[in-house]
Amino acid sequence: MESRLPHLTYCVTLLPAAPAPCRHWLAALVGLVLGVGITALLAGVIILAIQRSGADEQPQTPPTAGDPFSERSNCLPFSEEHCLVSRDAWHAAPSGRVATLATPVDTVIVQQTTTHTCATREQCISATRKIQEFHMGKENNWSDIGYNFLVGGDGLVYSGRGWDIVGAHTKTWNNKSIGVGVIGSFSEVAAFPWQLSAMKGLLAWGVSKGKLTADYGVMGASQVQDTDSPGQRLMQDLRAWKHWRNYTYTTSTLHTAHGGT
Ligand SMILES: *[C@@H]1O[C@H](CO)[C@@H](O)[C@H](O)[C@H]1NC(C)=O
Ligand SMILES: *[C@@H]1O[C@H](CO)[C@@H](O)[C@H](O)[C@H]1NC(C)=O
Ligand SMILES: *[C@@H]1O[C@H](CO)[C@@H](O)[C@H](O)[C@H]1NC(C)=O
Repeated sequence: MESRLPHLTYCVTLLPAAPAPCRHWLAALVGLVLGVGITALLAGVIILAIQRSGADEQPQTPPTAGDPFSERSNCLPFSEEHCLVSRDAWHAAPSGRVATLATPVDTVIVQQTTTHTCATREQCISATRKIQEFHMGKENNWSDIGYNFLVGGDGLVYSGRGWDIVGAHTKTWNNKSIGVGVIGSFSEVAAFPWQLSAMKGLLAWGVSKGKLTADYGVMGASQVQDTDSPGQRLMQDLRAWKHWRNYTYTTSTLHTAHGGT
């Protein structure tokens, strides 16, 4: 008995001679195999694409997460997750003449720094120093960096003028608010989740220190003056906060823009 299989081409040449129902049946079988194969291929491509787009989403923790305070010398922990980089640690220039802020205040004003974002402590220190140079330089001639605090894309808070000094961030509001500069530009791009979490942690700390009232309100600068800051995208996040204050300036309550001393 011949047990070896015939050559494939031999079988294929016989196909046209097969009765039509057999050919149709074989064609259907080939179609089914091809169909299953193509479906599997497409599914694979789609799964890969979904995984790829997931990889583009922002990760939920900052690069230094895990051991929150390793690499964080000169960073004062103010909660289990957050810490404050002192002025010394970011090599701040000494401030000039400043006024004392009467605390507690009931308002926090959020600004964007309108700079590139920063993702590492080194980059955030560099950004903070440049902002101070700009605020104290010819253009503004303020006595110090304008913000009371800055929040980096590295998830750390950088000490500006601190809780007890009047800032230069939002004219006419400086002497009755804490000004937080979120490092970056947020008209289209969202702040990192850990950046927002650091800001919330900072403000909770402010309440516990008696620098902010427990029912303090948070506003974006664009709610009190004619400015894009802190950017549409960041405003969207602020509006979702429990402490967000639904207030918008009118022409009669509007004074001159960004500024201070
Ligand atoms: C900057 O401010 C200081 C202190 O107010 C003042 O003495 C100085 O003249 C100012 N410099 C410029 C260039 O405006
Ligand atoms: C803030 O400054 C303005 C203008 O100098 C003044 O009218 C207001 O009383 C001050 N507010 C506080 C809380 O010091
Ligand atoms: C904010 O206030 C305005 C008018 O005062 C109101 O129309 C709007 O619905 C409020 N928005 C929220 C989110 O409460």
